[in-house]
Amino acid sequence: MEDLDPTYIQAPEHRSYSNSIPNQPEEIPVIDLSRLNDPEDIQNVISEIGDACETWGFFQVINHGVPCDARKRVEETVKIFFDLPLEEKIKVKRDDVNPTGYHDGEHTKNVRDWKEVFDIYFKDPMVMPSSTDPEDQGLRVVYNKWPQFPSDFREACQEYAGHAEKLAFRLLELISLSLSLPKERFHGYFKEQMSFFRINRYPPCPRPDLALGVGHHKDADVISLLAQDEVGGLQISRRSDGVWFPIKPVPNALVINIGNCMEVWTNDKYWSAEHRVVVNSTRERYSIPFFLLPSHDVEVKPLEELVSPENPPRYIGYKYGKFYVNRNRSDFKKLEIQNIQIDDFKVVT
Ligand code: OGA
Ligand code: NI
Repeated sequence: MEDLDPTYIQAPEHRSYSNSIPNQPEEIPVIDLSRLNDPEDIQNVISEIGDACETWGFFQVINHGVPCDARKRVEETVKIFFDLPLEEKIKVKRDDVNPTGYHDGEHTKNVRDWKEVFDIYFKDPMVMPSSTDPEDQGLRVVYNKWPQFPSDFREACQEYAGHAEKLAFRLLELISLSLSLPKERFHGYFKEQMSFFRINRYPPCPRPDLALGVGHHKDADVISLLAQDEVGGLQISRRSDGVWFPIKPVPNALVINIGNCMEVWTNDKYWSAEHRVVVNSTRERYSIPFFLLPSHDVEVKPLEELVSPENPPRYIGYKYGKFYVNRNRSDFKKLEIQNIQIDDFKVVT
């Protein structure tokens, strides 16, 4: 299979070898959260997290409290599902009203990604706007789809997602403290959280020089917590110069990154880094991100405590739910239009 469907082909400047990675890349921080048990070390951990959010927008955590068994169980179970024939998988396929379930046609910036996904909302059911029209107040209640086989798919996913959500709030508290804000400053934004949990499978690709597993993008959430297997392929763009750096797999670590909402809340102090996934021709790869999203009715705008006359707001506010449905719609509409990006809300100066 040498021919690649043209929908997968990246523009030359976005291909995997486009922007060279230095021979001895700087290390993206790996932070040991067990240090939080030592009262004398807590402040150091908080400032290391703050520095990582500012410099890279990415870090990894180890000893984070998500049990290895729960992770292993979900990894094994989802593999059984993805190995099923396509006819089975599309029984729980995403559609244009319900964005949960299986999907193999994701596009990033209008180029098709070399991957299959399965999406599950943390809250079941989950409430979201029913249309992209800013005037329309209508809401839709969305239920997760679950495959019948393997039979423990649902339980394994829910167990893992419960642990991931707990860690997400712990990290949110640490991030809040790193900004000299009260620990629970952000909690009120999550009463009807739209958080979801995704399983990505990247099959071996005949032309990894032309396609990407996920094209360059920023996550549209608050923070993401990603479990990746040992294959590797995730790369992030360095804030200072845009050079791509690999996020090396560390056993049992979770990769944490800042999403658009946190970038807006901190008025660009914290950085939502572009990232992408490079594929390879021999090994499949799995990753399991948990995306922490606020409630649909939250208006996302720079926090008052973090703006001043010298540092005026760089974004106008936007309703999170409308932003989310706008972004999601692009897979089902004509692909000529670029989907909505956070920079659309930048204050023009
Ligand atoms: C994503 C993503 C990275 C990976 O799903 O948004 O960036 O390593 N995934 O799978
Ligand atoms: Ni991402």
